[in-house]
Amino acid sequence: MKTSDAELKPLSLKFEGIKPFDPYLNLADEIIKLKKEMNAVILAHYYQESEIQDLADFIGDSLQLSQQAAQTKADVIVFAGVHFMAETAKILNPDKPVLLPDLNAGCSLAEGCPAPLLKKFKEKYPGHIVISYINCTAEVKAISDIICTSSNAVKIIEQIPKDQKIIFAPDRNLGRYVMQKSGRDMVLWQGACIVHETFSEKKINRLKFENPNALLIAHPECEEAVLSNADFIGSTSGLLNFVTESESTEFIVATEPGIIHQMLKKNPEKIFIPAPPESGCNCNECPYMKLNTLEKLYLCMRDRKPEIILDSEIMKKALVPLEIMLEMSK
Ligand code: 13P
Ligand code: SF4
Repeated sequence: MKTSDAELKPLSLKFEGIKPFDPYLNLADEIIKLKKEMNAVILAHYYQESEIQDLADFIGDSLQLSQQAAQTKADVIVFAGVHFMAETAKILNPDKPVLLPDLNAGCSLAEGCPAPLLKKFKEKYPGHIVISYINCTAEVKAISDIICTSSNAVKIIEQIPKDQKIIFAPDRNLGRYVMQKSGRDMVLWQGACIVHETFSEKKINRLKFENPNALLIAHPECEEAVLSNADFIGSTSGLLNFVTESESTEFIVATEPGIIHQMLKKNPEKIFIPAPPESGCNCNECPYMKLNTLEKLYLCMRDRKPEIILDSEIMKKALVPLEIMLEMSK
């Protein structure tokens, strides 16, 4: 049966203010066509919907995506991730348009650490440098000395002279993990990820009991109770490499389940069990990452918006600690 005009209406209402599109369009084909026309690169984080991951030119963790952004020859960067990731790409490419399918794709860590409050916090600790997790706003990057990601945090802290005092912001869980691994004391900003804080230690323990051969793998944004039971801790790419290289065939995955798409692609014979959240909800899915959809990816390329626009002074200041991070990660 042919779709009537009345049936098409809700689609245009859903994207209010945006020119509607033919619902019969093959969005994947259109995105590939637009990508060629624009000479664009699509960078996607592992937490994106599988259909977006499958269209990306590069899928990676925060560090790999920044490295890709820093070296891309494309004219336009389409960022399938969250706001702070697209901002980072823009800071590294101030003259290129950086498109983000949904500007509301934020991050609880970035939102929980406003720059004016971090500035005040800094004043309480004279003589400390600020190392900020990349999950923060451009304004916070601009007042930080070094940026790090979950995959290079320990490596970076270990390169800081032992007598240098450090403030680590905004993730207290990653901060505590880094302190344990490096043996360094740091002043921690008390931020957390709403997704990684949701995993239930009790339910994970039950899952381990029911699946005695399964290894528990966890992202360092998880709470101590989960990390202390983990067989392996790593960034998203670290977790993906671990399951691929491991001789084990079953894993309980304590991070956003979007990563399981690549785990299964690389290891179709292995079993991946998403770690359950405390309540019976879907709160182990990042609500910000999941704001990006295939439709919004197509629309942002068709309309060349929403685009990341940042203050040029903030960009200049934020570039310094980002470049230090890229250098220290080599
Ligand atoms: P990665 O550094 O592993 O990509 O983590 C980013 C993130 O937002 C995890 O929640
Ligand atoms: Fe931010 Fe957590 Fe979502 Fe990662 S999973 S983008 S840290 S809210």
